[in-house]
Amino acid sequence: MKHFIITGTSRGIGEAIAYQLRSSGHFLHCISRERNTALISNSENMAYYEFDLVQTDAIEALMERIFSQIDQSQVEGLYLINNASMIAPVAPIDAADSSEITRNIQVNLIAPILLTSLFIKYTRELAAEKRVLNISSASAKNLHPGMSLYSAAKAGLDVFTQSVALEQNNSNAPVKIVSIWPGMIDTSLQSEARSMDRAMLPTVELFKQVMESGMLTTPEETAKQIIAFLFKEDIEHGEVVDIYDYSK
Ligand SMILES: NC(=O)c1ccc[n+]([C@@H]2O[C@H](COP(=O)([O-])OP(=O)(O)OC[C@H]3O[C@@H](n4cnc5c(N)ncnc54)[C@H](OP(=O)(O)O)[C@@H]3O)[C@@H](O)[C@H]2O)c1
Repeated sequence: MKHFIITGTSRGIGEAIAYQLRSSGHFLHCISRERNTALISNSENMAYYEFDLVQTDAIEALMERIFSQIDQSQVEGLYLINNASMIAPVAPIDAADSSEITRNIQVNLIAPILLTSLFIKYTRELAAEKRVLNISSASAKNLHPGMSLYSAAKAGLDVFTQSVALEQNNSNAPVKIVSIWPGMIDTSLQSEARSMDRAMLPTVELFKQVMESGMLTTPEETAKQIIAFLFKEDIEHGEVVDIYDYSK
């Protein structure tokens, strides 16, 4: 059995990944605040955790629960997909509320760091294939005023990925870890950006143009590319991969 721990499976890319990974040889451990009842009722091997990743102090207990469900002697592969994310607060940093700033960094950076740390800890002795895929964003490089937190968190996630890969190179049973920029996808994250006031997001028109010119891909198409990438034999361990380059 291959096990997949996936965050952000209630909608968007994470939901599409979960739907496409369903198979008799796969067990999915799904995490989001909202329970995805449609996904659950259409799946056999699945555990669903309604969990708010802002609660970083509770992530250790969450991973303990998840790993207590996994019989590592029967595992053919273990995968962590850090996909959950939020863009709020979208605002110049001096207009953002302190608690919102903290929430953003908790969900976008601290939670995936903790999940990765615990994933590596729990699988230290496991010789089977182990992979962490961090869903990052080109926003780590392409900066927009009003989106400093999202960009800073994604840039942090990319550097974290690269650093952990160096550590894993010295491990007897290394975890392969990659950051991926998935492109621009028609999800609620994009519609939230498009709905912003220009005072909060001066480049809001760009987000609208991308949508109007049909440049957004579907979550299903993106999930397909991400899954192909996840199982790639020569996966780009330690790299930050732009899906546009990968799909050329
Ligand atoms: N869409 C794009 O154009 C685009 C571009 C570049 C990168 N990305 C990246 O792709 C990934 C998926 O984005 P998406 O577009 O699919 O976003 P989305 O449609 O907004 O979905 C976000 C997912 O994250 C979960 N989530 C958010 N806050 C959470 C929290 N506090 N605790 C637990 N789960 C939480 C949501 O579930 P709940 O609300 O139920 O908790 C939801 O399932 C993100 O990492 C994003 O940065 C997207």
